Amino acid sequence: MQANRKTSWNVTDYVRIVPSAGLTNQDVDDVYQLVCRTDFSSPGFCLLNFLGDAWSEMLRQFMVSLKRRLQAVHQSRRRLDLVFLSAARFDQQTTTKLHRDGGPDECFLMLGYEPSEVRSEVILADYSRCARDMQITPSEFLEQHNPMFGPGAELLRPYATRVEGFSNDAAQVLLINNSVAALSEDRTTWQGLLHTATVHNPCDDKRRVVNSMMVASVLPGTAEPVSPVEQDKFITTTIVRRRGYDRQHLTDDQ
Ligand SMILES: [Fe+2]
Repeated sequence: MQANRKTSWNVTDYVRIVPSAGLTNQDVDDVYQLVCRTDFSSPGFCLLNFLGDAWSEMLRQFMVSLKRRLQAVHQSRRRLDLVFLSAARFDQQTTTKLHRDGGPDECFLMLGYEPSEVRSEVILADYSRCARDMQITPSEFLEQHNPMFGPGAELLRPYATRVEGFSNDAAQVLLINNSVAALSEDRTTWQGLLHTATVHNPCDDKRRVVNSMMVASVLPGTAEPVSPVEQDKFITTTIVRRRGYDRQHLTDDQ
């Protein structure tokens, strides 16, 4: 099986430490290169571990700030902008199949996990690379082999990475390129992955809080769907939405 692997990312390729003093500009540049890839020389994802404490509001403040710093990198490198499409908090305890979150052609997810008694693991599949090897576009791959509805997961097995270092014990931030853009000859389009979470011990009495943001690459001057006021609310809110159609009976569903 190992010999058939098409991707071979080691934990050191995608896990980075956030020092107590925060990320340097060089660190942010590194995160940008890991996530906002335009070819297959980098993973397309990055897991950030905090050296110091990161309580909930601090975690969300870090995420908003990181988006703004990545935005500055994107502006200077690509002459494009980054905007928040969404920012919300979810209690996510549903095991999913490999999927892409709905969004524009070029976008990434920034997921801030809070410590939880609920254990889980995340697997990411490089479907863009698989599509390239099959000489089709990522969009065609999803039309023809979507693992949500068919046997596409088998095709993706050699392209899958189990995110090592993912832990329920501490706050972490996972960035995943969620794009569906075709690979361009001039190597300017983001190349995305599919993701899946397996929740090992879901429990209605416990929470697994995921602070979830979607960030898109847009033309300069595009209005940001999540206003600065809403971004501030995202940082301070205590509301956690339940996610999953099977949890409608819970009275604290938001
Ligand atoms: Fe998702």
